[in-house]
Amino acid sequence: MIKERVLSGMQSSGRLHLGNLLGALENWVAMQESYECFYFVADWHAISTNYQDTSELRQNMVDIGVNWLAAGLNPEKSTLFVQSLVPQHAVLYVLLGMITPLPWLERMVSYKEKMENIKDRNLYTHGFLGYPVLQAADIMLYKANLVPVGQDQLQHLELTRDLVRHFHELYKKKVFVEPKAKMAKVKKLPGIDGRKMSKSYNNAIFLSDSKKDRNKKIMSIVTDPQRVRRDDKGNPDVCNVYAFHKIFTSAQRVKEIDSACRDAFIGCVDCKKELTKNLAERMGPFDEKRAYFEARKDEVNEILREGSAKAEKVAAKTLGEVENALNISVR
Ligand code: TRP
Ligand code: SF4
Repeated sequence: MIKERVLSGMQSSGRLHLGNLLGALENWVAMQESYECFYFVADWHAISTNYQDTSELRQNMVDIGVNWLAAGLNPEKSTLFVQSLVPQHAVLYVLLGMITPLPWLERMVSYKEKMENIKDRNLYTHGFLGYPVLQAADIMLYKANLVPVGQDQLQHLELTRDLVRHFHELYKKKVFVEPKAKMAKVKKLPGIDGRKMSKSYNNAIFLSDSKKDRNKKIMSIVTDPQRVRRDDKGNPDVCNVYAFHKIFTSAQRVKEIDSACRDAFIGCVDCKKELTKNLAERMGPFDEKRAYFEARKDEVNEILREGSAKAEKVAAKTLGEVENALNISVR
């Protein structure tokens, strides 16, 4: 039986955090068992918003590799690669750029939102507007059937499907596959301030944080603001520590904490300490493997290079078909 193909990418625009592990990575790991998976570091995409300072890109790339392997992505099962090591991504991006109507890009919600929210640098660039075209090229090169992404990426997937159809109609050759988004059923992990966990909000628990740093961050979480003294009764529903418990603590115990909080039987400090313990337990195996790969970055780089060579074979084959369809093939 032929396995369906999965492809997804992660931008190397910063260190990965707990939200990335729970929201994406664990899901990617699970998919290795039933699909043929391609996962890559989107380092060119990271440049689209960080072109002014690329000093950390290489470091971020290895950091992503370390975290991937620690989380359980397995190079024997999945192809783990780096976008910039597979130049076919750029070639298909150029060719798709020739047929992409500008209004399709100008209406992207993520584009408009970022243009509005990011004011400290000029994002009125060709590359930033073309971001979703590059993403479409990433996906189309591998003829992926399924693309695990978050809610915010659905419109990019829709654009990819549009481009697939547009290409087929223009050149009367069916080269690509229309990919479907695959949304994971994950509980949303808030940041330590209650907003979405994000490196840009300064509220993230990083996968590279030491146990001590993680615990410090947890102890600093603001709890129910009405609960000032130990004998004040609390409301877990407005408490961010409780939101974490719902993810890292057993359902039974979460219930107990709920009523203990409402009756002021448990204090916030103890409640947080219990969370640090559960988090440490949950992260134990990951931390161990992370330390292993952190000490073997050469090995991690080698895995990414080998994966990229494998990916390039697939990408080159598709690109050959594209050039054929476009009547520019000289190979
Ligand atoms: N845009 C994606 C994100 O920010 C990253 C990405 C780049 C991607 N290329 C991709 C995801 C291709 C899936 C498929 O999360
Ligand atoms: Fe939050 Fe726990 Fe304090 Fe209740 S006891 S307010 S759930 S930290």
